[in-house]
Amino acid sequence: MNSEEFLTEILTPVREFCQFLDTNPPAYSYIPLHSDDERIRVMQSRLFNELRAADLFGTWLKTTPELDIKAIMAESAHEEMVHAQLLSKRIRDLGAEPFDYKPLPAQIAMFNAMEGLNDTCERIAGLSLAGETVANHLIQMCLKSPDVPEWIKQPYRKITEDEEGHGSVPQLFLKRYATTEDRQDRVRRAVAMRMVLFREYLASLDRWSMGKDRW
Ligand SMILES: [Fe+2]
Ligand SMILES: [Fe+2]
Repeated sequence: MNSEEFLTEILTPVREFCQFLDTNPPAYSYIPLHSDDERIRVMQSRLFNELRAADLFGTWLKTTPELDIKAIMAESAHEEMVHAQLLSKRIRDLGAEPFDYKPLPAQIAMFNAMEGLNDTCERIAGLSLAGETVANHLIQMCLKSPDVPEWIKQPYRKITEDEEGHGSVPQLFLKRYATTEDRQDRVRRAVAMRMVLFREYLASLDRWSMGKDRW
């Protein structure tokens, strides 16, 4: 399959999921939340994501032979740490402890599953293409919503500047490197895996942050 068709194919489920989220905003977007306690819980959960993303980008450096991708991964590891600092400061400013948080089982599963991906293209597809595209879409929804308070939007305005390229750069890399049947198949599976796990994480976060479930 040529790389243009392939990219369209793998982006289809990601875009469909974003459309679904437009009309069903999850707690992750902060839009349906009603109290600062709920908002702090979601921010703590998202802080954990920033740190795990930094871990993964950093961990993968040594096993990424493609120099252009390695360079972006190193930058991304740093950026995710900056995001973690912004969020932890915001939580502290509100008088809460940023790391008083136990990751949700689905969230642990999502990152551990990605950590198990061994091919550069699978990693880019799972963490960046599928994950960051959905996450950035949800940040845009959050920033546009009148239901989200300004203190939440503030750190995400800075985060969104960094994340701007995180949607298009993975597309370029996959066009460049996912050119064999084998790699394309791995990428398809990595995107599908991430979508399954992301859905479950978002659903768990809905229940837990709004007090409907222990997790
Ligand atoms: Fe981030
Ligand atoms: Fe990111």
